[in-house]
Amino acid sequence: MSKSIEKFYITTPIYYVNAEPHIGHAYTTIVADVLARFYRQEIGSENVFFLTGTDEHGAKVAEMAAKLGKSPQEFTDQISGSFKEAWKNLDISHDYFIRTTDAKHKKIVIDILNKLKDKGVLYEADYQGLYCVGCEKFILESELVEGKCPDHNREPQKLKEKNWFFSLQQFLPKIKQAIELGELLVYPASRKNEVLGLIDKQSLPDFSISRSRKSVPWGIDLPWDKEQKTYVWVDALSNYITALDYPEGEKFKKFWPADAQFLGLEILKFHAVYWPAILLALDLPLPKLYIHGFFTIDGQKMSKTLGNVISPNALAEKYGAEVSKYLILSQFSFGAESDIKIENFAEKYNADLVNGLGNLLNRVTNMVEKYLDGKIDLQFVDKKLAQEEIRQLRFREALLTIWQVIQNSNTLIDQEKPWLLAKDEKNKGKLEELLKELVFDLYNIATGLKPFMPEKSAQIIAILTADKIKKPTEPIFPRLDLSD
Ligand code: MSP
Repeated sequence: MSKSIEKFYITTPIYYVNAEPHIGHAYTTIVADVLARFYRQEIGSENVFFLTGTDEHGAKVAEMAAKLGKSPQEFTDQISGSFKEAWKNLDISHDYFIRTTDAKHKKIVIDILNKLKDKGVLYEADYQGLYCVGCEKFILESELVEGKCPDHNREPQKLKEKNWFFSLQQFLPKIKQAIELGELLVYPASRKNEVLGLIDKQSLPDFSISRSRKSVPWGIDLPWDKEQKTYVWVDALSNYITALDYPEGEKFKKFWPADAQFLGLEILKFHAVYWPAILLALDLPLPKLYIHGFFTIDGQKMSKTLGNVISPNALAEKYGAEVSKYLILSQFSFGAESDIKIENFAEKYNADLVNGLGNLLNRVTNMVEKYLDGKIDLQFVDKKLAQEEIRQLRFREALLTIWQVIQNSNTLIDQEKPWLLAKDEKNKGKLEELLKELVFDLYNIATGLKPFMPEKSAQIIAILTADKIKKPTEPIFPRLDLSD
């Protein structure tokens, strides 16, 4: 990413409404949030667009709603609302929240389908296969374990129907070339190689873009065949451009192609093959895809039955939005697969935020107040701490860089013992220099933290740039009772 960036468009996957938001969804959304905040600082808010939302059609949703005795719309309103609520609690700064049941989205999807048909990339054929309602996709016999879909532990349905197909085959060489030339960025390299492997193995048949309304009653009608509903993935992937008012919208003209589309590795094929194929068919430029790993909780996949699903709301309630984001992002590197141990969060909070940053702020401001009467003659310069790491999506490493400075400052205080220097008037110059250095570093810690913790950062900067520096009356990170 070069310095001449003029606009930045960031997306998350749109999340299924068949389950309440959990910290897996939160992870992707937080990563996108930090990057959005970073670029708003760099190029101005008006030049950044951050999109998230919910994916609301499909057989699974209709099934869940029926089970609960609700209409699909009632049901999706409720869960989509839960996602909005969770992102509010985590102080997520999206510019737009799209729902695939929005009238505007549906209208543009119909326009896209008509365009694809006019381009001659769709054809009608019989399709026969095994369909897993849990996955919302046809699955292969060879993928079954004891006759069941391994991800959902349920038997697939045998479906035979007339469907409309997208002729993917013709786009594969172009996609391959675009990936190799970097016109379609698939990051990290391991995922890029995975996609190239899929293409080389010729294991990517044409995919159907519709389903019979009998098997999938809840979705967007195909404009030319009302017996067919649009395949959820075509509906869902389109959100990235319908949200910008494709094709004529000002936002679309300004922001497409996306500069960072975040997703988890399980939906790589849809984003790195199907989505570029649709874009190529529409003669649109290709985006940059950033794929991260999945994390488990205490060694296990998050699941309702195991009872280890962690709600972002519960975290935000205990730690607040900003600390929750810190705790999640500092667990593992972007792209890695990892395990999260929630019982370590409280300890980490006390160690890094209470004893680390909070304590440093208290010590430094206390000494400036006591020894220099709160006055410090200092020109603040933003050293742009950890910015390169953020630009490279190395969020955990960015935090580690900042925490290294925190640790160095605390160590410096322990070594130099300013309280001893203060005892002798002849050390006044040295003491002043030392406190200047500490205040300067704290200022840079705070500016570096801005995309991660905008409020705490502003609070610290306000304390340091006041006419008279004072120790905060309340600690900015109150200690947590570990027995809670
Ligand atoms: N609706 C589709 C996406 C359509 S995008 C056009 C979907 N939804 S989902 O609700 O299942 O969300 C999947 C995404 O949530 C993952 O790609 C990832 O971004 C995030 N995560 C869900 N669980 C996660 C973990 N356990 N760990 C990390 N991220 C996780 O797929």
